[in-house]
Amino acid sequence: MKKLAIFASGNGSNFEALVTGIQQQKIAAQVVLLVCDQPTALVIQRAQRLKIPVWTAEFKQFADKAAFETAILAQLRQHGVELILLAGYMRIIGPTLLQAYPQRIINIHPALLPKFPGRHGIEDAFAAGVTETGVTIHYVDAGVDSGPIIQQAVVPVAPQDTLASLSRRIHQTEHRLYLQSLVKILEEK
Ligand code: GRF
Repeated sequence: MKKLAIFASGNGSNFEALVTGIQQQKIAAQVVLLVCDQPTALVIQRAQRLKIPVWTAEFKQFADKAAFETAILAQLRQHGVELILLAGYMRIIGPTLLQAYPQRIINIHPALLPKFPGRHGIEDAFAAGVTETGVTIHYVDAGVDSGPIIQQAVVPVAPQDTLASLSRRIHQTEHRLYLQSLVKILEEK
């Protein structure tokens, strides 16, 4: 059983899809901790309902990123975390965590990287009028949405699509692909 932590900042639909998918598909992993930097985020309620331990704190309570990540690291060690999955975590991972978990931090991005990195991957692709976009699962490095790609899934954009309909399909694809990539990563590690 690989012990996983999920980092999230907001809604948490990927968090929930991972936790329930791991159970339903009998994947040899266990989500042992949610790390959340937004104490009022919906993802915390999801974790409580799913009985996943939560660590949450506001970044501004710490002196700097190193101090914040050192506090997170203590939690990860306490829970025996071996792999970190970012799922809508809105902070850039710093050297403290990158060095502690080399090649062991994964991110999901709602576009076909290297196209449309940053916070608004779905909106930016839609506004650019592309005929296809998608989802990327990748290793995290020191850049923004720039680490080695693990898997991608294409989502076609139909002429009648609205931002809402496209977003819905992207999120459905995310939930499926993140689990699929997790299985692949666990086979390799
Ligand atoms: C997802 O689109 C993910 O790709 C991006 O942030 C969003 C999080 O959604 N990094 P949710 O909180 O999992 O619903």
